[in-house]
Amino acid sequence: MKYFAVVVAALLFVAANPIKAAPACGTTPPQWTGYVYEISFADAKLALRISQANYDRNAKKLKISDVDVKESAQKTISLFDYSTGNSYVSVEGQCTKGNVTGDIPNFGVPSDATAEPGGAKYLGSSLPNLGVLVYEYYGSNSVDGDYYVTYTPVGDGTACVPILRSTLTVSPLKEAIIEYTNITTTLPSDPFSMPPGC
Ligand SMILES: *[C@@H]1O[C@H](CO)[C@@H](O)[C@H](O)[C@H]1NC(C)=O
Ligand SMILES: *[C@@H]1O[C@H](CO)[C@@H](O)[C@H](O)[C@H]1NC(C)=O
Repeated sequence: MKYFAVVVAALLFVAANPIKAAPACGTTPPQWTGYVYEISFADAKLALRISQANYDRNAKKLKISDVDVKESAQKTISLFDYSTGNSYVSVEGQCTKGNVTGDIPNFGVPSDATAEPGGAKYLGSSLPNLGVLVYEYYGSNSVDGDYYVTYTPVGDGTACVPILRSTLTVSPLKEAIIEYTNITTTLPSDPFSMPPGC
């Protein structure tokens, strides 16, 4: 009888606290700006970058401007214009023009990812007002190798904001940890100006 009561209590608890299925997070909002902190190791070199990213999926433009770099990273300002297929990459003021093909990246959870089965969690702390509600996803693909990505849902979670992205390939040894901060959906003025020297 006592055992039965425990089982019923457990079932009631589960019914009252359903583990919310992870949202798809297949895309970000159509426009955003924010800061990207990246620490990476590739070709036996360490690089750190803090960049500002401006993104407009409808205008098909993405600009990434380094504001601070350390170790082997060279200060780079890149404009990728998917509406014309042109890219402009300015490294320490020296511009190289190139081409971009395909669709502008949507920065969402990769389509081959699996939602971490634990469901919703709070980044940092679950104490009130100390954490950010997040969902985690993991997977493996030919570009990033093994990865973990962390997103926070906007509304129903069709669109989400990226928070963390960690990638690792073993051969060649390459890894990156990327953190997104202060993302807002209002672009600054003149968000896609030409990089220096272009
Ligand atoms: C970009 O595309 C143009 C036109 O297709 C081509 O002439 C040019 O060589 C390409 N540039 C690069 C860097 O691939
Ligand atoms: C990030 O947002 C906070 C709060 O609005 C602001 O105080 C801070 O200056 C922002 N940081 C950057 C680098 O924009």
